[in-house]
Amino acid sequence: MSIELSTRALVARGDGSAPEVMRVELDPLGARDVLVQIAASAVCRTELMSIDRGTARPGAADPLVGRLTVLGHAATGTVVAVGPAVTRFSAGDRVVVTGTRQCGECFFCTNGAPGACDEIFAAMERRVGRTAEGETVWSDGGIGAHAERMTYLDSNLVRIEGAAPDEQLALLGCGITSGLGAVLEVGEVHPGQSVAVSGCGQLGLWMVQAARLAGATTVIAIEPDPWRRERALALGATHALDASGDVPAAVRALTDGRGADVGLEAAGSTLAMRQSFEATRYGGTVVPTGLESETAEVALNNLQYALGSRRIQGAQCGGGDVRRLVPRFEALLASGVLRPELVITTSYGLDDAPAAYPAMADPTQLTGIITPHPETSPEGENR
Ligand SMILES: NC(=O)c1ccc[n+]([C@@H]2O[C@H](COP(=O)([O-])OP(=O)(O)OC[C@H]3O[C@@H](n4cnc5c(N)ncnc54)[C@H](O)[C@@H]3O)[C@@H](O)[C@H]2O)c1
Ligand SMILES: [Zn+2]
Ligand SMILES: [Zn+2]
Repeated sequence: MSIELSTRALVARGDGSAPEVMRVELDPLGARDVLVQIAASAVCRTELMSIDRGTARPGAADPLVGRLTVLGHAATGTVVAVGPAVTRFSAGDRVVVTGTRQCGECFFCTNGAPGACDEIFAAMERRVGRTAEGETVWSDGGIGAHAERMTYLDSNLVRIEGAAPDEQLALLGCGITSGLGAVLEVGEVHPGQSVAVSGCGQLGLWMVQAARLAGATTVIAIEPDPWRRERALALGATHALDASGDVPAAVRALTDGRGADVGLEAAGSTLAMRQSFEATRYGGTVVPTGLESETAEVALNNLQYALGSRRIQGAQCGGGDVRRLVPRFEALLASGVLRPELVITTSYGLDDAPAAYPAMADPTQLTGIITPHPETSPEGENR
């Protein structure tokens, strides 16, 4: 039985034009490739930098401009077929496609830093197929998720039970794992601590939920938009600040004059990163996660940076140990302690998915979920 390698996918050109749904003929599976039938994928703000590379590298010539790129980096689905060197997966497995890779074997994976796995950077530019006209199609971050089916390197997948609805499981690929991991694993928040979260989009709202789950007694949400501040309070924040004025001073006023034990940034703003650093107490932990651009620089006060005894630990996909974190967070989802219904705001089919990106300008839009409605069912075939 032949494997269906023709798919429809949401494709961007990197020049700021609106993404389009087009047919892509996927390349035959390589030795370590896994073909996945996508059930649902989650839209993330980071994709805007693939739609318009000018926002990722302002003023710089970028070779990615003009390339066709399948958008997305977080999804759930079912394995259809695997390449001959794949040992961890077989047809029929339920999986999450994660916004990071974890090979498990490189220097970084074996030295406690899977968030810097060699394969993340080595496979950033990954060809996945071509159009009917023969134009090469690449994938966003070497991943690509908004499609009926897609091939992935095996290090991009984590097996799951499928214990929650697909639209929620798709969030394990980025939002949930990045947000909960940043708080529980990287920030190591523990009971009784104070936590400040800068930015309450979907990522910050997962951080707020995680801080409460970890037993933090003071959870300060910092967010300019009033609707999002309300949402943060509904999800467990104890205080909400509007991000104007002297934010670090306002946080210190809520934390016995010291600053938060753990300060997390999920604003995608270097200003918020600096404020988050300054709002964290001496000896506390600072966790930046956002991306203003690939070239922006963060300025920190020399005295505070060197002598403040703070630990600064950036977090990519919750620290990147996704093989351990995704099953753990799937169980949390299934247990009902998380509130995905307050973070998922819109559902799209593949055809109306281009609307998900302009919708991000509306603060009441947090996470869009794309359900591709595939015409074909998985063949369930190994090769
Ligand atoms: N490291 C990771 O694993 C990871 C994962 C997902 C997203 N991201 C990045 O994290 C950032 C947030 O993602 P999102 O989807 O939640 O985006 P979002 O745009 O929905 O949310 C960002 C929020 O920050 C607020 N904000 C802006 N300036 C602020 C300031 N000075 N102080 C406090 N809040 C401020 C905005 O009003 C907005 O609500 C983006 O840069 C995204 O690319 C990182
Ligand atoms: Zn993401
Ligand atoms: Zn690795």
